[in-house]
Amino acid sequence: MGTKLHRNMPQTRECRRSSKSGRLTAPYPLPLIDIEPLYFRNCGHVVQAAAALGRAAHEHGFLYIKGHSIDDSAIVDAYTAAQQFFRQPLEFKNQYYIGNSSNHRGYVPVTEKGVYPDEEDRHYESYDLALDLPASDPDYVLGNPLLGPNVWPAIPKFKDAVYNYYLKLGQLGRLLTHAFEIHLGVPAGTFSRKMTKPVAQLRLLHYIERKNRFDQEGQNMGAHTDYECFTILHQDSPGLQVLDLADHWVNADPIEGTFLVNIGDMFELWSGGYFKATPHRVACS
Ligand SMILES: [Fe+2]
Repeated sequence: MGTKLHRNMPQTRECRRSSKSGRLTAPYPLPLIDIEPLYFRNCGHVVQAAAALGRAAHEHGFLYIKGHSIDDSAIVDAYTAAQQFFRQPLEFKNQYYIGNSSNHRGYVPVTEKGVYPDEEDRHYESYDLALDLPASDPDYVLGNPLLGPNVWPAIPKFKDAVYNYYLKLGQLGRLLTHAFEIHLGVPAGTFSRKMTKPVAQLRLLHYIERKNRFDQEGQNMGAHTDYECFTILHQDSPGLQVLDLADHWVNADPIEGTFLVNIGDMFELWSGGYFKATPHRVACS
């Protein structure tokens, strides 16, 4: 069993590059960038770290980051909360079924139909949440399908642990956005100032082990690109694979103390194609 904390949203588009061969290579050396200099005011060091981030986002679209400020306890508490939820009986979890939400919040069961072409045998469930706005929020009142209050399960400390993690990841996301602005040479705030009510979603993903199958046609999560600016992913088990430029699926296994960052369609568009939204999939065997 593996639980993933994944800032992501369900993908509704087919990926633009699909593997013809489905060949799987050995673990691939995705870039590992130390972002600690971004937290300090030394301009030279900030520019250097931003350049490393930007180059990795340009060349690979997928990179590991270390030197972030997310403390281990926040990560552990979020995993604990997620595991407590996923261990509940289906009847309990279905009380929070996302289909009952007007703003895309809540539990996504294994039985939910996948939207990716190669996802014939879906093996994951998730709990989706985002910025927790009050029910009086004007956008929510007007029927915005993505903004508004979260749905919180009746599990002690779940909300505190998970939302604390969400807020910390939001801060990290803004830091990375500033770095990308620096690397692109656009004025500070070009992207980040627009994030007043960001549609940044946290997915608590629970991938379920597959006993007998592992082939191109039966992924736990089918191949796709993410559609937002970028995803910040924490993993506790292997399974994620990335399609490299040579059309090989390569493993992107967890590295202690890091997060994975992958560029999404929105940032690829905003950067005029400079940053790459790279197809990826998940298969836990
Ligand atoms: Fe994804």
